[in-house]
Amino acid sequence: MRGVTEGIPMECADLIPGKQGEGGGISEFVRGVVRKKPVKARVDTSEYDALLERYKMICRRLFPPARASKRLSAYLRVVSWGLPMVKVELLRDVFWVGAVDWNLRHFHGFSYSIHRGTTYNSYLITDQKVALVDCVYQPFSKEMLERIGEIVEPSEIDYIIANHLEPDHSSGLLDLLEVAPEAKVYGTARCKQGLEKYYGYRGNFSAVKTGDRLSLGKRTLTFIEAPMIHWPDSMFTYLAEEGLLMPNDVFGQHLATSSRFNDQVDRCEMIEEAKKYYANIIWPLSPIVLRKLEEIQKMGIRINMIAPSHGVIWRENPGEIVGLYSRWAKGERLKRVLIVYDTMWGSTEKMAKAMMEGVMEAGVEAKLYRLPDSDESDIFGDLLDAGGILVGSSTINNGILPTLGTFAVDLRGLKPKGKLAAVFGSYGWGGGAAKELEAVLGDAGCELALPSYTVNWAPSAEELGRCKEFGREFASKL
Ligand code: FEO
Repeated sequence: MRGVTEGIPMECADLIPGKQGEGGGISEFVRGVVRKKPVKARVDTSEYDALLERYKMICRRLFPPARASKRLSAYLRVVSWGLPMVKVELLRDVFWVGAVDWNLRHFHGFSYSIHRGTTYNSYLITDQKVALVDCVYQPFSKEMLERIGEIVEPSEIDYIIANHLEPDHSSGLLDLLEVAPEAKVYGTARCKQGLEKYYGYRGNFSAVKTGDRLSLGKRTLTFIEAPMIHWPDSMFTYLAEEGLLMPNDVFGQHLATSSRFNDQVDRCEMIEEAKKYYANIIWPLSPIVLRKLEEIQKMGIRINMIAPSHGVIWRENPGEIVGLYSRWAKGERLKRVLIVYDTMWGSTEKMAKAMMEGVMEAGVEAKLYRLPDSDESDIFGDLLDAGGILVGSSTINNGILPTLGTFAVDLRGLKPKGKLAAVFGSYGWGGGAAKELEAVLGDAGCELALPSYTVNWAPSAEELGRCKEFGREFASKL
């Protein structure tokens, strides 16, 4: 590696932070670079971006593209944005080099709530060839590059595996290619099409299929296409010698933590997030999940560790999450009833609460959610293994309350097939909400277990008794 200052005009010396005589400065910096043991110059985060942009601009002006990229790669190794990084080695020469997004609270736009942040996991494998499996969301690419720089010079990456096109994994790719322009990208043909359309990418790409292998030297990557889990381009990458499966989104959780492994975090939180993730992202694809699990089982591959692209790595007992996916995909139904409703003047709420009493009387767990006070994404997480759902709405304009609208749209989309369901609500004249809700539940693949129960204006004591009986009868059908 050449010194990153070579050929850079003296007036640009301020690109190298640190003061002469205080353990930093240009001379020590250059000596470090030449020794390949660079002294890290730590700068403020705000200063870092400006320095990087200026260095890029000067290199582009002075050098041909390949040399400019190598210099930028070297620069990234010596200028740090001020955060001391913890090196995480999953297995020998396999490193986590991703980023933790502590403050993310919504995903897929605003369609899915995230209470505990997320991570974008990238994995670096250093063998005779250096491979990076998956990138990060672009705002975090400097964090990824810095983590890579702790291990190898980013320009030394030979292969980049793009398991999935979605921007939370692919948008950092262009920043990486800027410093590793000779790296070859591997992914499915659909991934290539998407990269071209999203980013105008026209680089060195090799389309792979299930069973294709890529030797890194002592170890080999095997690719397994996984179309529609959850995008058409999705695939898994498997490191056979270690039994390491890197399935991208599958088996992930939106969970930001300071720990990287499942045996280091609160188990309840982790499973809750894995379940919510499955319910809100994977659920409608359950038949494909079951086929894929069966296919992997038939391949007879040994899985010692599962490293998804979000959340913690399943290091201890990875079979647990595989088993949970199998149960969720098969539509496991526990003795639990969710009662989801909204009310205009309290009548539908009284009905909901009376029905809950009936469910409880039948010895079945009940959970009551009023919309929009409750979080829909959380409700879907709870619904995943519930046995049934009662949905109630007052009637307005011959239909449901608009506050149930998003819930109805999501329910249709997630297709929670096989759940028992029934509807209820109050009306003043004409009605209409119950009919609309029954259509929604039918479209979603739910099984209507009882005819709807509606009351005019406000429920009488006798009608509340009937609501209780309705709940008890519904619960007895689980
Ligand atoms: Fe984590 Fe489908 O992206």
